[in-house]
Amino acid sequence: MTHERPETLDSLRRPLRDLRISVTDRCNLRCAYCMPREVFGQEFVFLRHADLLSFEEIVRIARQCVTLGVRKIRISGGEPLLRRGIERLVEMLARLHGEGGKPIELAMTSNGTLLAKKARALKDAGLARLNISLDALDEAVFRRMSGGRSSPAAVLEGIAAAQAAGFAPLKLNTVIKRGVNESEILPLLDHFRHSGIIVRFIEYMDVGESNGWRLDDVVTVREMLTRIDAEYPLQPIDARSPGEVAQRWEYVDGGGEIGVIASVTQPFCGDCGRLRLSTDGKLYPCLFAAEGVDLRAPLRGGENDLQLQRRIAAAWAARADRYSQRRHAASGSSVRKIEMSYIGG
Ligand code: GTP
Ligand code: 5AD
Ligand code: SF4
Ligand code: SF4
Repeated sequence: MTHERPETLDSLRRPLRDLRISVTDRCNLRCAYCMPREVFGQEFVFLRHADLLSFEEIVRIARQCVTLGVRKIRISGGEPLLRRGIERLVEMLARLHGEGGKPIELAMTSNGTLLAKKARALKDAGLARLNISLDALDEAVFRRMSGGRSSPAAVLEGIAAAQAAGFAPLKLNTVIKRGVNESEILPLLDHFRHSGIIVRFIEYMDVGESNGWRLDDVVTVREMLTRIDAEYPLQPIDARSPGEVAQRWEYVDGGGEIGVIASVTQPFCGDCGRLRLSTDGKLYPCLFAAEGVDLRAPLRGGENDLQLQRRIAAAWAARADRYSQRRHAASGSSVRKIEMSYIGG
């Protein structure tokens, strides 16, 4: 017998659907739009090991979220592959089942630089989907975007390993910053057309307080699509699920699918069912939230599953966030937003 679970709705009647878990606030890259070198340098104090949720603690929270309606869990960071033993967490989360006994969809977002070694183990542990960031194929442009760390060759090796391990369809995330890597749009498409890999171009967002975001640095999705369409005519395809962040397009000539993520110019808060769990156990109802709800202290203080579940449900019920839709009203506010490397992109 299957039990219909009641939906957990926020104050704008949006159901809780996705959980994004940050497993580390560290990263081996220093992308200027996320962890600029000047801010995340030698002196920067990252979380101590004792502050991090253990895998067992993460799974306990995730299980309560699944009971409340979560169907998709995405592991992120920082760079999630820097967390020691991450395959074990994948294995533990892959065992969770949602409504009607359906397994939850388990995904990860990684920068790909360490994937060559890990892709097979992640697949074997039960990871279903993988999104990999790649901002440029050109070595110099890549290094400008990544704060001088790693190389496109390392990420391409990671992508090849992910394909060999059977991750399909693979998605690539490319954040476009005006004057830095807009010249990479067409080369990336040339490279990945007909490969089955979906390249998604992302508008540069004003997350956190470190990246010195300016609207002038944003290349809009409309502009990107106009440029791409002039070279490779495109046609739209339907969204897979409501609340999906990317708009899907395909080449008219059969070269495959691409995507665009217009978080700045065409916000998608209306259907947003994403809850975020930070590395140290705080729940954030929005990527742009300033305050989180701490679960670590009650968890370590001995609360039982039902008590934790009530805390999560209450945090979701109180949720009124729709930052991207209100960006212009919110800009200039003195409230400090949380960094994306900590909250989990
Ligand atoms: P799929 O399930 O494959 O569609 O993954 P995803 O696009 O939800 O996740 P991914 O980690 O690959 O994120 C792609 C881009 O979308 C990144 O730039 C994220 O920061 C951005 N993004 C993801 N979720 C949200 C969100 O809730 N709000 C906003 N504003 N941006 C988001
Ligand atoms: N704007 C847009 N996307 C960003 N990401 C990180 N910082 C930003 C930003 N300021 C992306 C990364 C990665 C995903 C998790 O979020 O490139 O693909
Ligand atoms: Fe690291 Fe990803 Fe942030 Fe770049 S965007 S610094 S790869 S966490
Ligand atoms: Fe969801 Fe906040 Fe992103 Fe809007 S800005 S889509 S509410 S996470």
